[in-house]
Amino acid sequence: MKIIKSVSDMSAEVARLREEGKRISFVPTMGNLHEGHLSLMRMANPLGDVLVISIFVNPLQFEPGSDFDAYPRTFQDDLEKCEAVGVDIVFAPTEPDLYPEGFQTTVEVTEVSKGLCGDFRPGHFKGVATVVLKLFNIVKPHVAVFGEKDFQQLCVIRRMVKDLNLDVEIVGHPTVREPDGLAMSSRNQYLSPEERRHATLLYQLLKRAREQFQKGEKRAQRLIADVQNGLSRDPLISVEYVSIRDRETLKPLGKTIDRPAVMALAVHMGKTRLIDNIFLG
Ligand code: PAF
Repeated sequence: MKIIKSVSDMSAEVARLREEGKRISFVPTMGNLHEGHLSLMRMANPLGDVLVISIFVNPLQFEPGSDFDAYPRTFQDDLEKCEAVGVDIVFAPTEPDLYPEGFQTTVEVTEVSKGLCGDFRPGHFKGVATVVLKLFNIVKPHVAVFGEKDFQQLCVIRRMVKDLNLDVEIVGHPTVREPDGLAMSSRNQYLSPEERRHATLLYQLLKRAREQFQKGEKRAQRLIADVQNGLSRDPLISVEYVSIRDRETLKPLGKTIDRPAVMALAVHMGKTRLIDNIFLG
């Protein structure tokens, strides 16, 4: 496994691989890898000849006053995990190399970034789209895999790829869950044991909403209210949003769920913010 830390070395490596006709698969990450990331890598591995993953904690996607400095950096541990799942190249650029002095160009996927997490994390998706576009331009992947847990992020990337005619296939990977259903996330480690127990409620309520939907309940407000009430009854949970959106555009639906939809939620448990979602239809 190669570890490449500079943009120019990565570009040279990619040029060589492409000249040899190699197909590049790619998984961008911010490190602190867990089983969710490793599943993305296992999916990406057979989709190309060379699997590249990036590790870069992107300052642009952290809102002012949020946890950029506190974000766990576990590089050595991450490298061992990458090696074990068969990663060929780890690209870990430095901040001054990726954002040199004078950097001022950003990309914004205006509509898809609105609502849901976009309303509570101003500038977040602009930061994500910008870094992902930069990484695509450097790594030049044929295919890239993103988790469906960050569903709005996935929709933002898909829209950017379409709008800017980027020559990369985007593949979504289903949310990877703990045995009790909690969606895997780097943030789960911040939960106290008690919060961790209560956090299972998120997926239980989402599943119950999907069951009701499958039994014929198509009124969006009914399903949303049921989940919201269930969450509000838990003293450790404070609800940020519960919403049902069109699964492609993320636009709000009318009263009735009449097309493929996603039910998404975000909550706070103490200092930890958790998100999850489930598909309806
Ligand atoms: O999902 C993440 O870890 C990040 O948002 C990403 C896609 C690596 C961009 O920094």
